[in-house]
Amino acid sequence: MDKISHDTLLKQLNWRYAVKKFDPSRKIAAKDWELLEESLRLAPSSYGLQPWRFVVVQSPDLRKKLTPVSWGQQQVEGSSHFVVFTHLKSLDEAYVERYIKEIATQRGIGVANLKGFHDAIVGDVVKGPRAAIAAQWTARQAYIAMGSLMTVAALLHIDACPMEGLDPVQYDQILNLAKTPYTTVAAVALGYRAADDELQHAKKVRFAKKDVIHYV
Ligand SMILES: Cc1cc2nc3c(=O)[nH]c(=O)nc-3n(C[C@H](O)[C@H](O)[C@H](O)COP(=O)(O)O)c2cc1C
Repeated sequence: MDKISHDTLLKQLNWRYAVKKFDPSRKIAAKDWELLEESLRLAPSSYGLQPWRFVVVQSPDLRKKLTPVSWGQQQVEGSSHFVVFTHLKSLDEAYVERYIKEIATQRGIGVANLKGFHDAIVGDVVKGPRAAIAAQWTARQAYIAMGSLMTVAALLHIDACPMEGLDPVQYDQILNLAKTPYTTVAAVALGYRAADDELQHAKKVRFAKKDVIHYV
């Protein structure tokens, strides 16, 4: 594989910014979108548990309903694609078993060989120290996928805006998540920046490298 050049990578990292106003007339091409879907599916998660579901809101009617519970932000309806990040409300043994079976099938190994791994996961996030904060823990995993999506989008010259400025309870209601094991944590709007989105010209504000990266 050709290695992406340092210049290109750095350029795209600086090119990316949290878009406030999308150009509603520009849509992400199907081929690009498929790649963005893969950036979500292939994102890493602790133990590989993937305790998430990415809800792509295509219905204009649903997006309209989501706008007022998203601080009225334009990105909800103005973007080409709008992805709501949901995560498991709790973790149980059945979910871990489903995952273990998946590993066994996809890697062609016996479930019995995975007993140690199964027990380690259950002993941690189902019955162990993390069980009490399972929903927080699954939400953290969803944020990893969010980061992956935004970086891949930037490399494809596709704009994005991560969004926590929303009411998760209202989202769950509007998206009918109550009867599912999932709940909303955040969203990412994707598409193309509007020519008059002022923020694209603003200087990036970041602490100095020495303040955020410490070598010990
Ligand atoms: C988890 C998260 C939630 C955010 N929520 C919003 C939001 O609701 N609306 C918005 O316009 N920007 C939102 N942002 C964008 C940040 O304000 C932005 O990333 C930050 O100021 C750095 O600027 P830059 O991404 O343009 O470099 C969010 C960013 C993150 C990472």
